[in-house]
Amino acid sequence: MTTLLINIKELIQIRENSVKKVAGKDMNVLPTLKNAFLLIENDIIIDYGSMENIPSSTDNIIDCEGKMILPTWCDSHTHIVYAGNREQEFVDRINGLSYEEIANNGGGILNSAKKLQSTSEEDLYKQSSKRLEEVIALGTGAVEIKSGYGLTVDAELKMLRVIKKLKENYKLPIKATFLGAHAFPSEYKNNKEGYINLIINEMLPKIAEENLAEFVDAFCETGYFSVEDTDRVLTAAKIYGLTPKVHVNQFTTIGGVAMSVKQNAISVDHLEVMNNKDIEALQGSETMPVALPSCSYFLSIPYTPARDIINANLPLALATDFNPGSTPSGNMNFVVATACIKMKMTPEEAINAATINGAYAMNLADKVGSITKGKKANFIITKEIPSYGFIPYSFGSNLIDSVYINGEKI
Ligand code: NIG
Ligand code: FE
Repeated sequence: MTTLLINIKELIQIRENSVKKVAGKDMNVLPTLKNAFLLIENDIIIDYGSMENIPSSTDNIIDCEGKMILPTWCDSHTHIVYAGNREQEFVDRINGLSYEEIANNGGGILNSAKKLQSTSEEDLYKQSSKRLEEVIALGTGAVEIKSGYGLTVDAELKMLRVIKKLKENYKLPIKATFLGAHAFPSEYKNNKEGYINLIINEMLPKIAEENLAEFVDAFCETGYFSVEDTDRVLTAAKIYGLTPKVHVNQFTTIGGVAMSVKQNAISVDHLEVMNNKDIEALQGSETMPVALPSCSYFLSIPYTPARDIINANLPLALATDFNPGSTPSGNMNFVVATACIKMKMTPEEAINAATINGAYAMNLADKVGSITKGKKANFIITKEIPSYGFIPYSFGSNLIDSVYINGEKI
């Protein structure tokens, strides 16, 4: 079945299939076509062009009446599967405690792990699917989801099985990441070696056996997993075919970026604190730097230095980090706006970072992230807006008219 979308005021982010990511000055180029049509067949984009060259036959027609179309957002970093919330910690931070102090008092990731361990798989699925539906309605059409709030063999498997069930029941591409190395459980506080051995000898083989993840992650940070710890986990995971994707440089720079690049990580995420060595390590690599501006916003920590990264001719992706502690929001529209407002990215750079570069950071660049013949018909129809720059400009407004996943209106 073919559907022809006509009278598109501007069709945004049109690309040839060979473009997998954009870097440096190219990030400021956003190819578009004004007064355009888009032709889809079932779940695939098969053609687009100017309204003058509109195809003569189609099964259905949708008149976009001057609205714009852009590919759905590609959110390459989330922790959407979690149990309960942490709004008490939010109030504690308002009253003066730091994120670090809360974590040291047994809050933070360990607080979420306790909640998740005592939540059934069914309930966890219910809580998580609600969030997934919320972000799809906000324009997300491909998403990565991490484990990491289980921290026991059973609870990590429970999280990953919930992600698997989400994959089965929802049409958007979902990628699963094993983040057993998110924090040290309190019973391993004085036996870090013991927990790393548990990850390597018990969690990883079971995850591989059930084929529950394609990526492996670790929180490489002072007080969490050292560069050496992270390196060990990534090396062990590679034996099972898991590609690294690493939380690094959120609070301190300890050499995790260079180690992750050496490990051929597909992405390094957070990067709020960067020095020249970190930037140099990324140059010439295939590793995508990923910024998470709504985390910086929520925790009042520095924003990833996007200008330094892009001016060094590197690519940059944007993602939400949706999680109960540092970013209880999965709104990519807010992420794009905040990247422009706080990180001085142009609308073109921010849209590239949130679409094609996000797709690359999930190894999905051949399926989503641009309006390209042969890619998935996952796109957003905007409300009537004067220009695409209006999307980050009018932050906080919902400018989405409708979201299509696999060619179907959600
Ligand atoms: O990406 N930094 C590590 N992990 C999450 C937050 C964890 C939490 O506070 O629950 C993040 O920000
Ligand atoms: Fe995260």
